[in-house]
Amino acid sequence: MATIGSADSPVPGQPRQEAAEELEPEPPYLDLEALEDRSRELLPAPVYDYYAGGAETETTMREATAAWRSWRLRPRVLRGITTAQLGTELLGTPVRTPIGIAPWAYQAMAHPEGELATARAAAATGALMTVSTSANNSLEEVDAAAPGSPRWFQLYRLHSERHTDDLARRAGDAGYRALVLTVDVPLLGRRRRDMGNDFVHRAGVRMANRPPEGEEPTLDGLATATWTFDEIARFGELSGLPVVVKGVLRGDDAVRCVQAGAAAVWVTTHGGRQADPSISSAHALPEVVDAVGDDVEIYADGGVRSGSDVLTALALGASAVFLGRPIVWGLTTGGERGVAGVIDGLTAELAHAMVLCGLPDLRSLPRDTVTPAR
Ligand SMILES: Cc1cc2nc3c(=O)[nH]c(=O)nc-3n(C[C@H](O)[C@H](O)[C@H](O)COP(=O)(O)O)c2cc1C
Repeated sequence: MATIGSADSPVPGQPRQEAAEELEPEPPYLDLEALEDRSRELLPAPVYDYYAGGAETETTMREATAAWRSWRLRPRVLRGITTAQLGTELLGTPVRTPIGIAPWAYQAMAHPEGELATARAAAATGALMTVSTSANNSLEEVDAAAPGSPRWFQLYRLHSERHTDDLARRAGDAGYRALVLTVDVPLLGRRRRDMGNDFVHRAGVRMANRPPEGEEPTLDGLATATWTFDEIARFGELSGLPVVVKGVLRGDDAVRCVQAGAAAVWVTTHGGRQADPSISSAHALPEVVDAVGDDVEIYADGGVRSGSDVLTALALGASAVFLGRPIVWGLTTGGERGVAGVIDGLTAELAHAMVLCGLPDLRSLPRDTVTPAR
């Protein structure tokens, strides 16, 4: 069985990361395909495949960006708008941009500083960061890297219920502002690239949020299958935080989440890494907004790659969008500066798109800003 990394080389890809420092691209960071190409050169092939890949035939992943582009903008003119304000609040937390960082695992495989670099970039850009349970740095270490900046903690059940409950409490204690329950992983999607590579991503990578060595076995796979709607209120009480449910693609599920106490719903296909082929976020979002948009905040992610993709999601009723792989490639190629460059680049592009559409701020963003392409 091929393993990635070893005890001697704790961070897979690290030797090649040293080369990354020299090759670091200069801004602008908007050529996301070039960042991905560069990342493919820098990372060991199985690590690149783990980040880049999707489930089964990767249809969901392939269609994600095209689905946002199946909408068209309807610009307003003669409104005297020359600048756009992008500041907003997410669950009451102020952010400078509605573009946030989605939770993604094992960031030390992309860059030696891993989540710490991402956290500093988020703080520098005023973007909200969601930290994964499967982070290489503990949730307290990530907080210490950029104390007080807007951050949510994403919860999986990887160990016992006791340990998972403890993580929820620790997130509340460490100043995280919301708990994100990822519910679309009753089992890991069948990711053929990883299976072909025999990718054992835990090998040699520090799983910082796991219990002390030997105290508890890691569950064989994820165990969110044991969660039901009742868990939403329970985790809210344990953590003292608002609960965001990540992984909702249907209006009826969104209604049940809200009835069960969710403060927000996150429309996502998990980057095409779970059910495949499934409906795209861009096509599921309107149904979820119609079902619960008056009651709670709604977020979306998956294939968002331009300012106009962001604007489309916001016009359809999202309060924020999140980026997965663009952040992976920013971190791989440029560390903290790369992540900040990606966020700043897309935020500037969003501001531009809003002015071109006669929109001064996120409050005045009506649904009829977009229409299906014909
Ligand atoms: C390498 C990788 C690891 C991920 N790990 C997690 C995770 O630990 N928890 C989670 O809720 N979602 C995880 N996701 C899903 C992302 O949060 C997000 O939904 C998705 O990447 C968005 O799509 P995009 O990559 O096209 O922007 C991961 C995605 C990628 C690409």
